[in-house]
Amino acid sequence: MFGRGGREARRAKRAPSESTRHGAPTSVDCAVRLDGVTKSYGRGAAAVHALRGIDLAIPRGTFTAVMGPSGSGKSTFLHCAAGLDAPDRGQVLLGTDDLTTMKENELTRLRRTRLGFVFQAFNLLPSLTVEKNVLLPLRLAGQRPDRRRAAEVLAMVGLDSQGRRRPAQLSGGQQQRVAIARALVTRPDVLFADEPTGALDTTTAAEVLGLLRRAVDAGGATVVMVTHDPVAASYADRVVFLAAGSLAGELYRPTPEAIAARMVDLSRTTTRQEAAA
Ligand SMILES: Nc1ncnc2c1ncn2[C@@H]1O[C@H](COP(=O)(O)OP(=O)(O)O)[C@@H](O)[C@H]1O
Ligand SMILES: [Mg+2]
Repeated sequence: MFGRGGREARRAKRAPSESTRHGAPTSVDCAVRLDGVTKSYGRGAAAVHALRGIDLAIPRGTFTAVMGPSGSGKSTFLHCAAGLDAPDRGQVLLGTDDLTTMKENELTRLRRTRLGFVFQAFNLLPSLTVEKNVLLPLRLAGQRPDRRRAAEVLAMVGLDSQGRRRPAQLSGGQQQRVAIARALVTRPDVLFADEPTGALDTTTAAEVLGLLRRAVDAGGATVVMVTHDPVAASYADRVVFLAAGSLAGELYRPTPEAIAARMVDLSRTTTRQEAAA
């Protein structure tokens, strides 16, 4: 496993320049960029405006956490950013490629080769060994099942000797580490994680978050993680807040306390708005 210290090292890093803080920077190398992304469910009076025009740039090699009250649009944001769901309006750029103009088969290929996913429920295939689970994205992408690469990513998550086991023989934390290894095996442009520690105890969650942090710091990965846990979000370089489908501020080099305080404010505001509506 990796040592501690990722968070401390990150805190010492230089703050991003002012131009990267707002809107869409042009000088920064972006992994993903959303411009005016709007998404509603249903029509007319019954329509739910899940995203109301999101502009967000995510620089390469950074760890971003997305937080917000329940129903604020976090999952919709992640699905739109990852090409799993099509926005009604706006653009989603992965590097220079616009996901909103791609056909479904192009999107499927792009997701398999250029994106990684980690979910709360691990989503490993129980009948496959750990190694075969890790190699699955390569197989699905029609690439050679590179066993050396599998060993490399399994070592990265501290499971070098576990390749022949089945998921059910591992603890929850180990299974999520396999899922991270699987998400990293293709060296994706972006790793998306939806509540990756939601099913884990505090100690195991810290291990998994440390791994994501390490993938960014040592591996150069770009991670975007949805979470409702201020401690989990504090592993990120930047936390962006969503409220009622709009961006509602951000924090750089966040502490759990600062994040928790912001969440309390957002929940109050959202509750007031709901009461007034
Ligand atoms: N498939 C859907 N059909 C209708 N409404 C949806 C659907 N998915 C999400 N919503 C609504 O969109 C809003 C945002 O949902 P979601 O993105 O899941 O928020 P979060 O992940 O922050 O809880 C909520 O009001 C939710 O009820
Ligand atoms: Mg959600």
